[in-house]
Amino acid sequence: MTADTFEHKLSLPAKTVHVWFLDFENTPLPAASSSMISGDEIGRANAFRFEKHRTRFIATRAMLRGLLARYLEDRPEQIEFVAGEFGKPYLANRALQFNVSHSGSIIAIAIAHDEVGIDIEQLDRKCDVERLARECFEPREAGQLLALPAGERVAAFLKLWTKTEAFCKASGCGIGQGLRQRPDNRWTIVELDAPDGYAASLAFVGHGYNIECFDYLP
Ligand SMILES: CC(C)(COP(=O)(O)OP(=O)(O)OC[C@H]1O[C@@H](n2cnc3c(N)ncnc32)[C@H](O)[C@@H]1OP(=O)(O)O)[C@@H](O)C(=O)NCCC(=O)NCCS
Repeated sequence: MTADTFEHKLSLPAKTVHVWFLDFENTPLPAASSSMISGDEIGRANAFRFEKHRTRFIATRAMLRGLLARYLEDRPEQIEFVAGEFGKPYLANRALQFNVSHSGSIIAIAIAHDEVGIDIEQLDRKCDVERLARECFEPREAGQLLALPAGERVAAFLKLWTKTEAFCKASGCGIGQGLRQRPDNRWTIVELDAPDGYAASLAFVGHGYNIECFDYLP
């Protein structure tokens, strides 16, 4: 389903999480009029060294504001964000929760009624799995990863990593603090059906939820 399927309003039923993916290699980036994004967002965009990162940041904010406006029946430019202690963005004065991740040409946004975290990673990349697995995972998990054939390790590491990062982002602590915590049995952490060439995971508190994924069309 696409954003165009809905004329205006989007609604999130109880016990449901919505996940929106946009691949800007195949889809035009959402345009942001200068009135849509805040002065703070313009400042952050201008701080990026590379044009492609600046463009992606602005497009992500345009997509996020456009989506949230449709759930909240508000105008995109009226959406206000506040940051948690470790930088997690929240809506000011509204109960709806969201989380954003980007990697390569994909922007992923999760929308939920309670704390939620999403992470997406492009699989086609180099990483020092041995060092990262030992630094980031329990010895048992690191051992299982390192026992895999060399050609499978990076993808397996990144899939596991997205689960870890989705949890860190749901808890709001970020990677620095979050890696020291372990999810207890209140949490659901699932791998999503990500676009080809990517791994993605979602984390939220609660069980028995519907997870509905959509392609976003600006
Ligand atoms: C937030 C964080 C997890 C981002 O990881 P990443 O893989 O680079 O980026 P992703 O694309 O998955 O997520 C970025 C988005 O997460 C959101 N975000 C920022 N801080 C967040 C936090 N503490 N918790 C949850 N989400 C957060 C933002 O929407 C951000 O998008 P934006 O930069 O366009 O505003 C990481 O930078 C982090 O942990 N920051 C917190 C500070 C910290 O712990 N620093 C020590 C790092 S070792």
